[in-house]
Amino acid sequence: MQDRYNREINYLRISVTDKCNFNCRYCKPDNSPSFLESKLLTDDEILKIVLGASKIGFNKIRLTGGEPLVRHGIIELVSKIKAIDGINEVVMTTNGSLLPRKIKELKKAGLDRVNISLDTLDPVKFKYITGGGNILDILESIENLLLLEMNPVKINVVLMKGFNDNEIMDFINLTKDKEVIVRFIELMPIGSHEFPFEKYYLSNNEVLKQCPELTRLDNSHIETAIYYNVPNYKGKIGLISPISNHFCNSCNRLRITSDGLLKTCLHGNVEYDLLKCIREDIEPIEDFLKNSIMLKPKSHKINQKDFQKVDRNMYKIGG
Ligand code: 5AD
Ligand code: SF4
Repeated sequence: MQDRYNREINYLRISVTDKCNFNCRYCKPDNSPSFLESKLLTDDEILKIVLGASKIGFNKIRLTGGEPLVRHGIIELVSKIKAIDGINEVVMTTNGSLLPRKIKELKKAGLDRVNISLDTLDPVKFKYITGGGNILDILESIENLLLLEMNPVKINVVLMKGFNDNEIMDFINLTKDKEVIVRFIELMPIGSHEFPFEKYYLSNNEVLKQCPELTRLDNSHIETAIYYNVPNYKGKIGLISPISNHFCNSCNRLRITSDGLLKTCLHGNVEYDLLKCIREDIEPIEDFLKNSIMLKPKSHKINQKDFQKVDRNMYKIGG
């Protein structure tokens, strides 16, 4: 259905857990508390939400976390979501570390595509930024996804000044022989952690500055990223620039946190209590979603005087 600004809202991101086996320094500080199990949406509740969403025109579901693959029963959940009428696409954003063990079954369950986070190609820096991760698991995941032709395989790189801006060309070179899409994401002012926005934010213009060969590709369909490639390279580069070039006018999504709160904008603190609506049977889910869509703001307020940073850290939202 359309919101007040003529945007077709058809994409629902559901965070299935706030737990994560990594502690990326710009996302989840060490020893961050997790929600109590009883606060998390159950499988049945998630399925009820998706069913309601499908009835008002949602057709794409993304499962996020934390790390979605640490949730018990995630494969079965994927297959049940995929079986719902009207849901054409079920995709996932993951850190990739647990994917090699599960990818075949996930594909069989109906998972269409995966976005993998990878912020550095240096094993030592990788271990540092993720709080202990092994880069070999992630590289293996990417190869598996390519072999299984779960295309396009997207790699998310959060650009951080002084941390990985010296690797921009290495990431672009990954696209020479591999049919992957490397997407640089601007660091966002979300939650509190070791990598404050003020210090580490770098505009995606830096990517274009370092690689003038990048050629803009047609971008007529609705996307958060603007796509480029280096001529004759197999893969593509995407620039996701919520700060320097916001894409709110083509925003087509709602988000649900793992504790069942609905967010109409990633960069706002407004949250609607969907969990309560379900558990106390307050109103039909379709009505709740419709009302929320009508309250979706026109754009975020980053760079404006009255902007207030989002309090929740990203692992409790899901990106
Ligand atoms: N700014 C930008 N991206 C972030 N992510 C996590 N925290 C931030 C942040 N503060 C990314 C992760 C993952 C996606 C879910 O969001 O790296 O790719
Ligand atoms: Fe986990 Fe992703 Fe946050 Fe890293 S960015 S700590 S992988 S949720």
